Amino acid sequence: MSDEILSLIYAFSKKFSDPKTKLSFDRQNNNISAIIKDGNVNVFLQVSDGNTLIYKDILRLLKKNIEQIPEVISVNIALTSEKTNSAPKKKFNINAKNIIAIASGKGGVGKSTFAVNLSVALKSIGLEVGLLDADIYGPSIPRMMGISKKPEINENKKLIPVNNYGIKCMSIGFILDEEAPTIWRGPMVMKALEQMFNGVDWGSLDFLIIDLPPGTGDAQLSLAQNSKLSGSIVISTPQDVALIDARKGINMFKKVDVEILGIVENMSYFICDNCEEKHFIFSKDGAKKEAEKFKVPFLGHIPINKNLRKQSDNGTPCCVDDPNGEISKIYTTIAKQINVSLNS
Ligand SMILES: Nc1ncnc2c1ncn2[C@@H]1O[C@H](COP(=O)(O)OP(=O)(O)OP(=O)(O)O)[C@@H](O)[C@H]1O
Ligand SMILES: [Mg+2]
Repeated sequence: MSDEILSLIYAFSKKFSDPKTKLSFDRQNNNISAIIKDGNVNVFLQVSDGNTLIYKDILRLLKKNIEQIPEVISVNIALTSEKTNSAPKKKFNINAKNIIAIASGKGGVGKSTFAVNLSVALKSIGLEVGLLDADIYGPSIPRMMGISKKPEINENKKLIPVNNYGIKCMSIGFILDEEAPTIWRGPMVMKALEQMFNGVDWGSLDFLIIDLPPGTGDAQLSLAQNSKLSGSIVISTPQDVALIDARKGINMFKKVDVEILGIVENMSYFICDNCEEKHFIFSKDGAKKEAEKFKVPFLGHIPINKNLRKQSDNGTPCCVDDPNGEISKIYTTIAKQINVSLNS
């Protein structure tokens, strides 16, 4: 029971930020801890400003929220200002409540298509979303989001993300020529990624969605180690050759302690125009079974669909072009599920 109460407390606390540092009170930020004994809750907030008055409203609202949890008898919230050294400081900073990496072991399975449509679906449920194309080797977000202009630079010399369909987009592709070969290697990957976080004026976001390059290389590790990832979503097609690589991806995230929020099966089936039957071209439920094996959530099946491909190529994502269509509904269901699992 205590664990459930603690989860609820941390879910509430995440909604509040330190007015000085703009960091949400989140265990990942090392600025909150809580203990419960016989229904009596003690919460410790580590704050950055000696002027405790600026935390008055946060204290009142947080206390009120926690008092409403069944089984809670009393709530005491203390402010502390000592620094803890328990977690290494992350180098990639951004004011986003949730950061999700979209990954796959294999290339071409539909990560970017998913990242784009998930972003639009999250926006459609009222959330502030940023989309970061971290695919240094083959950036495709500008094309899929219908963006051709380059980001401008603000007075602090930070890049301003390009907004389309209400999503703040940033891509290494904005800086590189689409046709130019990319030879980013080793430390250059880290530098380029750091620039995408610290060198961009993201403002404050509910979600930052990161479209990763395929595989388990430098970019994945760099992000896992240097940014505060809330978790990753692994995309796979259902056939064995893709699943073998997906497994590598899952294992890598496990090794670096990044939670797998779920697996999505893309290109699950094809519905033929003539017979309206589902054809399981790449075999059936492969990714779903994999999710069960790894005991991670299965988030949904997305069919192979000609329009989905066309919409991506045209820069009008499915969830923008046909928001009430069957496939958009699948993305929206996944978006809601992710939002609930991270924020409730
Ligand atoms: N469900 C789908 N139905 C039809 N076409 C799809 C589907 N998902 C993706 N595609 C198409 O397949 C191609 C590859 O998709 P996408 O670029 O999203 O994959 P990726 O995993 O990001 O690839 P890469 O590893 O190269 O970054 C694109 O042309 C895209 O439009
Ligand atoms: Mg891609």
